[in-house]
Amino acid sequence: MTQTKGTALITGASTGIGAIYADRLAKRGHDLILVARNKQRLASLARRLANETGRNVETVEADLTSPADLRRVENILKTNAGISVLVNNAGVGAAAPLVASDVDKMEEMIRLNVTALTRLTYAAVPGFVARGNGTIINISSVVAIAPEVLNGVYGGSKAFVLAFSHSLVHELADKGIRVQAVLPGATATEFWDVAGTPVHQLPAQIVMSADDLVDAALAGLDLGETVTIPSLPDKAEWDRHEAARLAMSDRLSSAIPAPRYNLRKRVDA
Ligand SMILES: NC(=O)c1ccc[n+]([C@@H]2O[C@H](COP(=O)([O-])OP(=O)(O)OC[C@H]3O[C@@H](n4cnc5c(N)ncnc54)[C@H](OP(=O)(O)O)[C@@H]3O)[C@@H](O)[C@H]2O)c1
Repeated sequence: MTQTKGTALITGASTGIGAIYADRLAKRGHDLILVARNKQRLASLARRLANETGRNVETVEADLTSPADLRRVENILKTNAGISVLVNNAGVGAAAPLVASDVDKMEEMIRLNVTALTRLTYAAVPGFVARGNGTIINISSVVAIAPEVLNGVYGGSKAFVLAFSHSLVHELADKGIRVQAVLPGATATEFWDVAGTPVHQLPAQIVMSADDLVDAALAGLDLGETVTIPSLPDKAEWDRHEAARLAMSDRLSSAIPAPRYNLRKRVDA
C-alpha cells in the first residue's frame, strides 16, 4: 500500500454523492472513515473500496440527528490526527411548501443539514489549524441561491452552508486550510425519493449523474475554487454575483437610514 494522503471522513457515505466521494478519495490515496446510518451499505462499500484500492476503510454507524451519535463522530474528528479531509455531505431535502410540511420534520432537517455540519466543522478545525493543513468540503445546493425552487427550510439550510463556508474561507485560508462549498443542481440519487419527488419526474436535461457531479466538484477543488457549481456553464456569472455582493458590503451599515425611507425630518429634529 502506498503512503496515505491522510484520512477523509465523509458523512452520508452509504449511498449517493457521499459514496462517490468515498470512491474518488480512496482512488486519490486517502484512507476513509465512512459515516451514515445504514450499516450494511457502509460495510459493503467499505469492503469494495478496500479491495479495489488497498486503502484502510473504517465505518461508523451514526444517526447525525442524534446528539449522542453526533458527539461520537465529533470525538473521532477531535482525536484522530490522521484526518486531513472532512466531507460534510449528509443531508436531507424536501420539496413541499410550508403549509404542506410538518414542522418537526423541518427541525430534523435543520439538525442534520445545519447543526451536524456545524458541530463537525467545529470539531475538525482546531486540529487542522494546529497541523497547518486540512480540507473541508461542504455540500450545499443550488437552492442556497434559489430558495424559491424547493422547500424553503431546505433552501435556508443550504444557504446557511454557503454563508458558513464563505466565513470559513475568510477565517481559515491563511492557516493552510482549504474550504470548498459545492452547490449541486438536481443529481440522480435517492435524495429525491426522500424529498418526495422521484428523480424520474424531473426533466432529464437538468439532472446530473452523481459520478459527474463529484468528478466536477473535485476538479473544482483542484482548481482552487471556494464555491463550485458543477452545472453552471459560465463561472464568470457566479464571479459577477460575488463581486456585487462584496462591493455592497461597505455600505451595509450606517448611522443614517437610507433616503428612500424619508426619515430626514425626524433625524433633523
Ligand atoms: N441529489 C440532489 O439533487 C442534490 C442536490 C443538491 C444538493 N444535494 C445534497 O447532497 C448531499 C447528499 O445527498 P444525496 O443526493 O447523495 O442523497 P442520498 O442519496 O439520499 O444520500 C444521503 C446520505 O446521507 C445519509 N444520511 C441521511 N440521513 C442521515 C442521518 N440522520 N445521519 C447520518 N447520515 C444520514 C444517508 O445514509 P443513511 O440513510 O445510511 O443514513 C446517505 O448516505 C445532501 O446534503 C443533499 O442536500 C443533493
